Amino acid sequence: MTDSRIIIALDYADPVQALDLVSGLSPQYCRLKVGKELFTRAGPVVVDKLVGAGFDIFLDLKFHDIAHTVAQACVAAADLGVWMVNVHALGGRKMMEAAREAIDSASHHPRLIAVTVLTSLDGQDMREIGLPGTPYENVLRLAALAKQSGLDGVVCSPQEVEDVRHAQGAEFCLVTPGIRPHGAGPNDQRRIMTPADALRNGADYLVIGRPITEAEDPLRALLEIQAEVAAALAAAK
Ligand code: C5P
Repeated sequence: MTDSRIIIALDYADPVQALDLVSGLSPQYCRLKVGKELFTRAGPVVVDKLVGAGFDIFLDLKFHDIAHTVAQACVAAADLGVWMVNVHALGGRKMMEAAREAIDSASHHPRLIAVTVLTSLDGQDMREIGLPGTPYENVLRLAALAKQSGLDGVVCSPQEVEDVRHAQGAEFCLVTPGIRPHGAGPNDQRRIMTPADALRNGADYLVIGRPITEAEDPLRALLEIQAEVAAALAAAK
């Protein structure tokens, strides 16, 4: 069991590439995120292998369907032995409560978090789908709804993490992508934050992909970020 705050995004189409990267890492220093691309290509087998290798897995499939279907999908995820699973808060209170109940009664109890508003949506997109308010207002409202529905936390961008932490308290789990260590390029991320700043602003876990997966020496890149994280946590004490 690791206490690492770093979740590496395994954004690969090819499971061989994903497993190759992971063979050079250690569960002592990171957790792993399996998303829709890798899961749709490689299925539960790859999750099984990663869990078997000792890693905590965040299964990032963002379930969004009728309550019963999402509840059953959450049980299936729990049965895979994953550490964390997520749903869309826009599925509503009944859907999130059903997911909570299903996880609580499953054989294994992964953390259950919600996606609030996809960061790819801007104000114009929100109006087009009929959601009043700004993306920021919707994120804050949906984070509150996720908490009221019994969820353990939400995914949020570095821009929102401080306000969500303030509104939802210390126990609510905040998972933040868009993280770039000092000196790393932004890739296609528009609003980025360093690991230390994200932690200072209230993030519990940092989702980091390309700065590690595309590094010449991924383990070294991970250990450097881990050192930055450790220093930030020590300074916060
Ligand atoms: O390579 P990079 O560090 O940008 O990867 C970040 C990961 O976090 C990717 O898997 C991406 O899909 C995910 N993510 C994100 N921004 C969000 C939500 C998820 O970058 N708002």
